[in-house]
Amino acid sequence: MVTRLEQTNNIKVILNLKEHPSVDVSATVIRDACENFFSKICKNVPGKFYSGRRELHPIRQDARKVVKAIKHLYPDLYSSESVRKLRDFARCPELTEAFLALQKGIKPKKVDIGNSGTYFVLDRQKRPIGVFKPKDQEAGTEGNRKGIIGPIRGVEVGKCYQRERVAYLLDRHHFARVPKTVIARLPRSYFEEQTARKPELTKGSFQRFVPSAIHARGNPISTEDLQRTAVLDFRILNQDRHLKNLLLDKKGRARPIDHGFALQLDALDLRFEWLDYSQTKEPFSKKILAYIEKIDTEKDLKLIQRRIPTITKSNLLRFKFASLLLKKAAKRGWTPHQIGTLMINRFESHIFDPSKTSDAEIDRHLEKILTNSLH
Ligand SMILES: Nc1ncnc2c1ncn2[C@@H]1O[C@H](COP(=O)(O)OP(=O)(O)O)[C@@H](O)[C@H]1O
Ligand SMILES: [Mg+2]
Repeated sequence: MVTRLEQTNNIKVILNLKEHPSVDVSATVIRDACENFFSKICKNVPGKFYSGRRELHPIRQDARKVVKAIKHLYPDLYSSESVRKLRDFARCPELTEAFLALQKGIKPKKVDIGNSGTYFVLDRQKRPIGVFKPKDQEAGTEGNRKGIIGPIRGVEVGKCYQRERVAYLLDRHHFARVPKTVIARLPRSYFEEQTARKPELTKGSFQRFVPSAIHARGNPISTEDLQRTAVLDFRILNQDRHLKNLLLDKKGRARPIDHGFALQLDALDLRFEWLDYSQTKEPFSKKILAYIEKIDTEKDLKLIQRRIPTITKSNLLRFKFASLLLKKAAKRGWTPHQIGTLMINRFESHIFDPSKTSDAEIDRHLEKILTNSLH
């Protein structure tokens, strides 16, 4: 049986293993099968890999199945390079395109604005396809080239890439339209000097590039979009929503970015620049209210806890307070401006009370705050 499988050496091998769990297949066979599958994908798909390409969908489904089977049957191989290529493709085809361009020697472009090491990764036609922020160059890290080295109040330095991913995942149903963000490993030599002591791949967040985008600051933006961004910012306790971290795509739709300073352990200095906009003084639309009502706070907390392992129970409690406050205030007809004003700089001192841990206590506490706050 093994010989036959080894001879076949294609992706069916892996899928068939589910039906033949007793078959012992070597790691090399699995790796080769993945490599073969990956090179077949590359050969059969000329031009650019991007999520919008319909013809990629069935191939992505296959890749997903294969990766899932390997995770289940051969967990040790799950992180190997050959499996990772398929995994990346299944999750975010832009990452595959970036990988292929890098293989061709197309260098990423360094972004000058901002505090992190941020790079536009190009496709094979040398157009930006993704934004990569290596963890080793985040604000506060030793490798930061913009001179921001050392502790930053309220920020877990070197872990911002995790926040970028979690903000994307928490933006359920793409409600605020955070561009797709995954955690990726790309060849280090394109982003910094490769020394013998450092691994060849460097980890970071990879976000789908929003073409022809402009910053929202100083540009017209719809009330609905601004308010959706506000809802996201409340839930992730964003410490960095200035309006250059909100893009407008070519259709004028808001695309919130840069969530490394959100979802931090102690959300100390919230920043909601949208408070300056009169649209946030308008009541939430029916659609937004329905979304807020459906927010599953416990599900969100589980996701945060799983994806940011350094978060403790007491850190997590902050997000619970924020989520429940949003739900309660929206139900009472509060506007995003009123909620934001209440939260900003007062979240730690006024709203979040770590001594209240049971649902009933939190509920009573928030009720009291909302009733007593002048708005
Ligand atoms: N997904 C994206 N699509 C298009 N442009 C982006 C995207 N992400 C970032 N940019 C551009 O790069 C700049 C810096 O990125 P940002 O994530 O804000 O990094 P920093 O943490 O350094 O502030 C942004 O202001 C924006 O102009
Ligand atoms: Mg920024």
